[in-house]
Amino acid sequence: MNDIEQMARLEALLFVAGDPLTYEEIAAYLSLGTEEAASLVEQLKRRYQRDPMSGLVVRRIEGAASIATKPALSDTIEAFFGKVRDLKLTDAAYETLAVIAYNAPATRAEIEAVRGVNSDSIVNRLIERGLVREVGTLETPGRPALLNVTETFLMDFGLSSTKELPPVDLMMYDTITEFTEERQSAAHTAAVPKPLVIAIDGPSGAGKSTISRLLSEHLGILTLDTGAMYRALGVKALRQGISPADPEAVRAMLAETTMDIDLTDRVQKTLVDGLDYTPYIRTPEASRAASDISALPVTREYCVRLQREIGKKQALILDGRDIGTYVFPDAPVKFFITASPEIRARRRLSDLEKAGNPSTLEDVMREMAARDLQDSGRELAPAKRAEDAVLIDTSEMSVREVVDVMIDVIRQREALQPGWGRGAHGQQ
Ligand code: DC
Repeated sequence: MNDIEQMARLEALLFVAGDPLTYEEIAAYLSLGTEEAASLVEQLKRRYQRDPMSGLVVRRIEGAASIATKPALSDTIEAFFGKVRDLKLTDAAYETLAVIAYNAPATRAEIEAVRGVNSDSIVNRLIERGLVREVGTLETPGRPALLNVTETFLMDFGLSSTKELPPVDLMMYDTITEFTEERQSAAHTAAVPKPLVIAIDGPSGAGKSTISRLLSEHLGILTLDTGAMYRALGVKALRQGISPADPEAVRAMLAETTMDIDLTDRVQKTLVDGLDYTPYIRTPEASRAASDISALPVTREYCVRLQREIGKKQALILDGRDIGTYVFPDAPVKFFITASPEIRARRRLSDLEKAGNPSTLEDVMREMAARDLQDSGRELAPAKRAEDAVLIDTSEMSVREVVDVMIDVIRQREALQPGWGRGAHGQQ
């Protein structure tokens, strides 16, 4: 078979698979070697990139590939899913609806525990189609959203209430009964083993904070933005007229500084000496000050001690630069999130505009390049990828796609090491 035919076969295969296929699987289906399969995937990826008339992209992650729609077309896709309400539901969607109806109110993690697979995209589609809605949050760390079926669902299925649903043992899911019992005894909290620490490192503008927030909602665990800590200390130094790059002055300042991180409301509050600095830390001056002050050993010691203390108390997602390499080198799951400099600068520019601090793309790119160089070039805890971190380039991915990929990685790790999420992780 020639390359052109193989390429067509690969495209057809990825199209019907929907979920990522590993290079080994592709190689087996196409009777190729694994390296040839990887090279074919690369060619298909480039073909889509070159073709402005294509609405598709190839996603590659950890030795697997899938076909997805271009993030720039999300408006069209959302319009389609929003409008075409009478589309037939897939078996997976029916299954998810049943899990929610029988267990309502249920969290995403509980739905996943019953189905055994990540069901976020299906749940989102059911929400878009008006069959499921959020009805509140669970009062546990991370406050995951609680989901229930809607009146549209009841009407579509000819029910006046979910109490009219047939008894559970008529259903095909043996696990629902078991699951419900377990859920009652565990008071809603222990459905899924949670990873103790998830490290998310990468340069600014790569999308770490948005991704961490969504991941936190999905997994029901808290997230700590470590950059905010360096930013707040940088702002305090500026306010006191201290140079954030002056080690002695910063040492004296830190000796008189109390930092508290309030994560109770999901949205992080970074308090310095009792004052919430959150509103003041996203300016270009704060970014520069953070980059300077974070290069000082005394500041790193101060912040890392606090980060480890918080991470020891509860399951936690931390986003930063050195989480996987230094703060929690034994974290069971590590990601390094990046994107092209231009895309990162565009994202930062849009954040600045939203915060009422408009700038220009050129200025933001220049600032970012200088900060990247300083953050990754420094001797102490340089921003770099841990060897065992999964690298994700988010340039051409939507946030939802990135999060889905990360959840898959987390679940794969969990399957390899059952129970690792609950044990101590051994950092000091
Ligand atoms: O992620 P951010 O842009 O909010 O980070 C602000 C600064 O703090 C950035 O210059 C890098 C630095 N930083 C760090 O050195 N280590 C971390 N764990 C997080 C941020």
